[in-house]
Amino acid sequence: MERTLVLIKPDAVVKNIIGKIISIYEENGLYVENLKMISPTRKILEEHYEEHKGKPFFQELISSLKDRSIVAMVISGEEAISKVRKINGATDPLKAEKGSIRNLYGISVRQNSVHGSSDIHAAKREIKIWFES
Ligand code: RTP
Ligand code: MG
Repeated sequence: MERTLVLIKPDAVVKNIIGKIISIYEENGLYVENLKMISPTRKILEEHYEEHKGKPFFQELISSLKDRSIVAMVISGEEAISKVRKINGATDPLKAEKGSIRNLYGISVRQNSVHGSSDIHAAKREIKIWFES
């Protein structure tokens, strides 16, 4: 049993497909263990995307999410971390596997509908940021 942090990003929230996205995780045997809607501060986002600090897209990435509605979820299940990454698809929707969330709903690298933790360490760290701070 693993836990991972999933974000439904603003581009998907404004498309009114929160339910559709959650259903995809559920249909793949995963469970929503915790969920909230939040308009994050710069501080939360900078912590969340710490690994990308200093990269050319960092500030734009933060600005595109700041103060906009996001659904944060703790998703659990067997191999939840890698399962979610596979269900989400590649970062660039144009390269994402057919049927993945980003293939179905993503607009661009920036507006790619969802986030999923990359590994166990990231999952623990990110769940703390969004649900325990
Ligand atoms: P995520 O963390 O959101 O699940 O996505 P990921 O692992 O597939 O991608 P990552 O490399 O961690 O990048 C985090 C988010 O930053 C945006 N991004 N923009 N070149 C760019 O403009 C660029 N590269 C990445 C994406 O929104 C990506 O999801
Ligand atoms: Mg990532």
